[in-house]
Amino acid sequence: MKKLYIETYGCQMNVADTEVVFSILGAHGYERTEDMGEADVILVNTCSVRDNAEQRIHGRLEQFNQQRRQRPGVLVGVLGCMAERLKEELLESGKVDIVAGPDAYRSLPLMLQNAAPGTPQINVLLSREETYGDVVPVRTDRNGVSAFISIMRGCNNVCSYCVVPYTRGAERSRDFHSIVREACDCASRGYKEVTLLGQNVDSYIFDGCNFAGLLRLVAESCPGMRVRFSTSNPQDISDEVLQTMASHPNICHHIHLPVQSGSNRMLEKMRRRYTREWYLQRVAAIRSYMPDCAISTDVIAGFCSETEDDHRQTLSLFEEVGFDAAFMFYYSERPGTLAARKYPDDVPQDVKTRRLEEIIAVQNRLSLESNRRDVGKTFEVLVEGHSKRDPAQLCGRAGNNKMCVWTDSEHRAGDFVRVRVLDCTQATLLCELEL
Ligand code: SAH
Ligand code: SF4
Ligand code: F3S
Repeated sequence: MKKLYIETYGCQMNVADTEVVFSILGAHGYERTEDMGEADVILVNTCSVRDNAEQRIHGRLEQFNQQRRQRPGVLVGVLGCMAERLKEELLESGKVDIVAGPDAYRSLPLMLQNAAPGTPQINVLLSREETYGDVVPVRTDRNGVSAFISIMRGCNNVCSYCVVPYTRGAERSRDFHSIVREACDCASRGYKEVTLLGQNVDSYIFDGCNFAGLLRLVAESCPGMRVRFSTSNPQDISDEVLQTMASHPNICHHIHLPVQSGSNRMLEKMRRRYTREWYLQRVAAIRSYMPDCAISTDVIAGFCSETEDDHRQTLSLFEEVGFDAAFMFYYSERPGTLAARKYPDDVPQDVKTRRLEEIIAVQNRLSLESNRRDVGKTFEVLVEGHSKRDPAQLCGRAGNNKMCVWTDSEHRAGDFVRVRVLDCTQATLLCELEL
């Protein structure tokens, strides 16, 4: 057996892909190790979404290369979005033996077999069909409670700032039979939660089954299992999906609904195919079906030509929606995207940073307010394990995705428990076991 070490960056899709790679290579005699120092093969599954994500990986490649120099025979490979974006450029550095794009993982066994010092291997072909639907992933989560299931790959939107359509290729949906089979397999191995993953889950379509149909299938096939999903695109999220969520108790009431900007002028330039008004109307629809549904978002500060007025509209949209959580970024120009070709990246870095900080300050307050509204409520929580801060406490998420901690010596990872919220911080609900 050869030892395989994989480090994963980027989104949940990459976590799911790494599990596919462990499976494919596992069938060819590669055994997983978590110690890079003993690995025969070191792979890094990469993200290109922002420049600082790529810079971090370049730094890691330096360190992997040290291993390669110290222990001749060790192979280093780059997988994922950076492999797809940079292609041969990655080989030119001489630090890498393997470059494999997101649709090339079935060729990894052969690539590893053929790779040798001086003969690097590259496969960055994108596919219109590949979904790895038949590959049973090797789960890498530590607690054995929560699993990611990829339901589609690629993206057919062309948001002008975004590199994903270039690194992941065209959108394709995975056969729902294999999705349900994977979910049931997770249930039989003791998993209690699955998260269905896609860049735009509402455009899932396979053999006439849309995303609402898929959600229903998974929720009803695995009634003891919690079902989550990500990401919903505001342009496509349907009432049928909201009704399905509202009528299935095991589908969690949390929607990740990236808004990107509160200004219609920016949204148009970003090629997001909705307006501020449409977004607010979707939020209202979510709340009319599920008054307790948490809503989180992604936002980009300082996109091309963004003015103070555009920025204020983002701040006011945050106030108006009252998001429960948000991932907040400043704009990072990505080579080859529509925005990079058409619009100058003209908001100065200090202005981007300041605007981002203003958004973060508003969201920190909104997160605290959202948590305060939950004080006094009771929630069913899925235990993930011991709290990092205090080993006498357990932690786990409520259906609304908020992290709860409470003192408990009776339960363990994978149990569902009921807790009452006594107090909160901006990040956590402080609870007690409900007796
Ligand atoms: N498919 C998802 C987003 C995936 S990328 C969707 O459409 O919502 C995750 C997030 O990264 C995006 O929501 C966006 O907020 C951010 N992002 C993408 N490209 C970016 C860029 N060039 N600069 C800064 N943030 C970016
Ligand atoms: Fe990128 Fe837009 Fe596709 Fe999301 S929907 S992955 S932001 S192009
Ligand atoms: Fe990054 Fe690729 Fe995901 S660019 S966010 S790892 S799809």
